[in-house]
Amino acid sequence: MSEYRDKLFAPARLNGLELRNRVIRAATFEGKCPDGYPNDDLIALHREMAEGGVGLTTVAYCAVEANGRVKQEMMYMHEGIRSQVEAMTRAVHEAGGKISGQMGHCGNFSQNRAFEGKRPLGPSPMINMGGIPVGLPFAGAMNHADIDHVVQCFHDAALFMKSAGFDAVEIHFGHGYGLSQFISPKTNRRTDQYGGSLSNRMRYPLRALEAVRKAVGDDFPILGKMGLTDGVKGGLTTDEAVEVAAFLDEGGIDALIPSGGTSSMNPMLLFRGDSLVPGMLALEKSALMRLGMRMVASSMFRNYPYEEVYFLDGAKRVRDRIKNAKLCYIGGASTLESLETVMREFDFVQMGRALIKDPFFVRNAMADPRYVNGCTHCNQCATLILHPDGIRCTLNETFRGDVDGAGRPEASTISMRLP
Ligand SMILES: Cc1cc2nc3c(=O)[nH]c(=O)nc-3n(C[C@H](O)[C@H](O)[C@H](O)COP(=O)(O)O)c2cc1C
Repeated sequence: MSEYRDKLFAPARLNGLELRNRVIRAATFEGKCPDGYPNDDLIALHREMAEGGVGLTTVAYCAVEANGRVKQEMMYMHEGIRSQVEAMTRAVHEAGGKISGQMGHCGNFSQNRAFEGKRPLGPSPMINMGGIPVGLPFAGAMNHADIDHVVQCFHDAALFMKSAGFDAVEIHFGHGYGLSQFISPKTNRRTDQYGGSLSNRMRYPLRALEAVRKAVGDDFPILGKMGLTDGVKGGLTTDEAVEVAAFLDEGGIDALIPSGGTSSMNPMLLFRGDSLVPGMLALEKSALMRLGMRMVASSMFRNYPYEEVYFLDGAKRVRDRIKNAKLCYIGGASTLESLETVMREFDFVQMGRALIKDPFFVRNAMADPRYVNGCTHCNQCATLILHPDGIRCTLNETFRGDVDGAGRPEASTISMRLP
């Protein structure tokens, strides 16, 4: 075993939390919360992550309030879902793992049929393309009371999550969600103390971080997922992103996870590999959305060929800038060789698709250094967010005919469980 493989699989500390290794299951919204309630499949999925050996599994997407959901089939943190959330955290603990939850707010890009109010709110007014089919074509600008309200929601959601058994929380500062809408100069055109200079654009995200810290206490781990670049003209650049990291570091974040791209403007930057468009068109129920998708496909879903560890250079720049926070690498770390490369430079690694392909990756790789995961970055799992049953790895299926009439194989997951 190389020293970096040893490091990967050895226990590590994240603030007050002891993890059995440095592998963290990335937040990947699983589409298993019908009507906003985590279902048994979601609980089983995170239990399996713990059985498969990851140090920490992350539940996505934990909206901090009902209007913070992109779609109504997402959960938001409130007492009404306590028993299901507690069942999930308990299941992970019983399987020997730890569990984190990704806290977020969608800000201006709601597609939520259950949205309460006239329009979603972000830093500045804009057209909300994704909201057109659900009658939310425009987004407004948050006033100071709106900002205070969402900051309080971050606080209350964090309190709820800690009390429901989460061992850590991850704040979403990236991918075009509500907090990053303020960070990005593309979407934040404000002229008050929340817009303009980077320190002004960081004011609201830093207030959210402060509120979460106040709720969870000093020794509870808070991770932050941030953007290295929006990848669009006029958006966040890596030079500025490095300073975003410095602000979050000074604000007391425990670990930073530098990613990139945005769900609403340039999603392929964060995934790389095969386009999401064919799968999304096949699953999207709204004809209007399908039409819109076809119209923006070439500009929004750009072609980024997959390569391993595609955010390595940007992540190193962040690591070199921060003083206190740990650095958690994310983005195309799917082979043992890549994981060793990552361990040379960073403290933790998050894995998304490779663990969707094989939840037992960690145990398999510990048992056999030549283990090959088999994820092809086809990104079918990402398009299945829209499927009524949520995500799965289609490579793990045996094709038994066109059972659902839509050209999709019957779900029949091959067990990756070790004997
Ligand atoms: C099915 C799926 C759902 C995702 N949902 C989220 C999400 O809810 N929040 C988030 O920050 N990233 C999400 N992502 C992005 C991943 O967390 C990760 O950044 C990306 O997949 C790259 O890591 P990987 O190469 O290890 O898969 C999702 C990815 C996939 C495949």
